[in-house]
Amino acid sequence: MSKIDIETAKNLLLNGDIVAIPTETVYGLAGWIYSESALKKIFEVKERPFFDPLIVHVDSIEKAKALTTEWSPLTEYMASKLWPGPVTLILKKAKDINPLITSGLDSVGIRCPDHPLTLALLKEIPGGLAAPSANKFGKTSPTSFEHVEEEFQGKIPIIDGNQSAIGIESTVLEIIKTGEQYKILIYRPGIWNKEKLADLLQSFPAHIDISYESSPVAPGQIKHHYMPKIPIALIPPHWSREQIMDRLNLLGQEFLRPVELELSQDIRFAARELYEKMRGLSGKGDILFVRWHPYLDSDDFEGIKNRLLKAQSFNLINA
Ligand code: TXA
Ligand code: MG
Repeated sequence: MSKIDIETAKNLLLNGDIVAIPTETVYGLAGWIYSESALKKIFEVKERPFFDPLIVHVDSIEKAKALTTEWSPLTEYMASKLWPGPVTLILKKAKDINPLITSGLDSVGIRCPDHPLTLALLKEIPGGLAAPSANKFGKTSPTSFEHVEEEFQGKIPIIDGNQSAIGIESTVLEIIKTGEQYKILIYRPGIWNKEKLADLLQSFPAHIDISYESSPVAPGQIKHHYMPKIPIALIPPHWSREQIMDRLNLLGQEFLRPVELELSQDIRFAARELYEKMRGLSGKGDILFVRWHPYLDSDDFEGIKNRLLKAQSFNLINA
């Protein structure tokens, strides 16, 4: 199976098959929004529960508008400034959207990804493509062709679009409008977080409150996610090798080969390398550890922090 071109992908998708697509965040497992059987296959192959809604990918604002009954001046402003790009907007859904996509909610997540191959593919697809990250439910997201191949043992056709430039999933946010007042709720942080969004919105002619919220739907309630093959322990920055061994072996399981997962202080590198390292280093030891340096608590790193806190098995930061 494996590598396919855009034309083949288009034919498979319009035929109700699923295909892995590259995006700038992570690879997605895509199905045509008008094919119920493709939507079902996505959940089946990922082993994903039906209560976790999918994001619809489009190549234009026009296609996004057709999927929603709500398009405020702030929505227009954000879509035009942030798309194509790593931000998913949660909007009131148009009534003909398949409930499998939205898990029966009255909202739909929409995003225009910034990847030339996937944008070219989307141009050929009426409506759009529903695509969660191309990994088994609860596991680490893929950021390369090889990761997707490994995840589904070569059983899924893939468009190879090289390594994902950003490396962590999109920021998921909802714009709430009450009368003339707006507020933004960030359900999943990414590269675009509170401070960067506040900067961007300074040129919008209204004050907008931005806050982090746990999602009203599934993912906020699911504690563990993004998990690699071996456990992750979060530890204080200064622990010595001996302390690490001593502490880890108090956890009730014998760990012999702890491996450090080091992250750049530059958020762009840290994000790009996070999942690559989580996968790659999993084959090199029996437990990964991350030293919790103060920079991990800055707003820039909110997306990384969110992933690590969900991926970890042992939180010893304050031990
Ligand atoms: O970067 C990304 O967003 C990648 C690429 C492939 O685009 N996709 C991705 O999809 O991460 P997934 O399914 O792994 O995560 C989508 C997140 C989930 O946490 C889901 O619950 C949330 O978006 N979501 C989708 N629709 C929603 C809705 N209507 N309301 C609230 N959250 C929603
Ligand atoms: Mg995912």
